Amino acid sequence: MSRVLVGITGSVAAIRAPELVASLGAAGHEIKLVLTESARYFVDLMNVSQMAAVVAVHQDADEWPVGGYTRGDRVLHIDLRSWADILVVAPLDAHTLAKFALGLSDNLLSCVFRAWDFDRPVVLAPAMNTRMWESPVTRRHLAQLLEDRSLSAAPACWTLAEVAETFACHAPSLVLVPPQSKKLACGDVGMGAMAEIDSITNAVWNWTQPLEDSAEPA
Ligand SMILES: Cc1cc2nc3c(=O)[nH]c(=O)nc-3n(C[C@H](O)[C@H](O)[C@H](O)COP(=O)(O)O)c2cc1C
Repeated sequence: MSRVLVGITGSVAAIRAPELVASLGAAGHEIKLVLTESARYFVDLMNVSQMAAVVAVHQDADEWPVGGYTRGDRVLHIDLRSWADILVVAPLDAHTLAKFALGLSDNLLSCVFRAWDFDRPVVLAPAMNTRMWESPVTRRHLAQLLEDRSLSAAPACWTLAEVAETFACHAPSLVLVPPQSKKLACGDVGMGAMAEIDSITNAVWNWTQPLEDSAEPA
């Protein structure tokens, strides 16, 4: 069993959070959730917090307990970073992608990412309108993440269609599960819908299963 920290951002695809949690739970993982303020618009906190595999659901306010800081108090984003074997951000909206790329850390989820130990994997499943996905800004932000994590010189030329392969080759600890093309919630048809839940769960499995196998007693 792996400890999976799931970050949920303010894409309409956040309504699929219960499906994702159910799928990860069925795979035997222990799950903590971190929701951005915008994600809370799409997710029923009560519902997800009662799901079997979920051990905690966090939101930004949890980082700032009433009463102020006292020396020795726990720092939530560091505790979550230390707890998790893997971070999954699904859906990853355009705004949080930009923050990750720029190193901004003004909420719980972006602090976790900023403080992440990249010996452990991060799975990113972007979801946004087609125009947002195809904007040069998106490629610029993905390129920044790639460059920051590249083990070898990142290729100068790659396209969004090759994003998963490019990350796998040059920044293997950062797993991009690319969006898919379909009719989006806004009515537009095109690339940008979050990947299928199975694709995200499989990406987690690809990382966690070998670790679990190697941890089994001989
Ligand atoms: C109904 C609705 C649906 C949205 N869907 C998306 C989306 O799929 N992808 C995206 O990048 N932004 C989407 N947004 C915009 C984000 O919610 C907005 O940029 C927000 O500031 C993101 O904050 P966060 O990254 O902290 O969650 C949507 C907004 C609304 C109101």
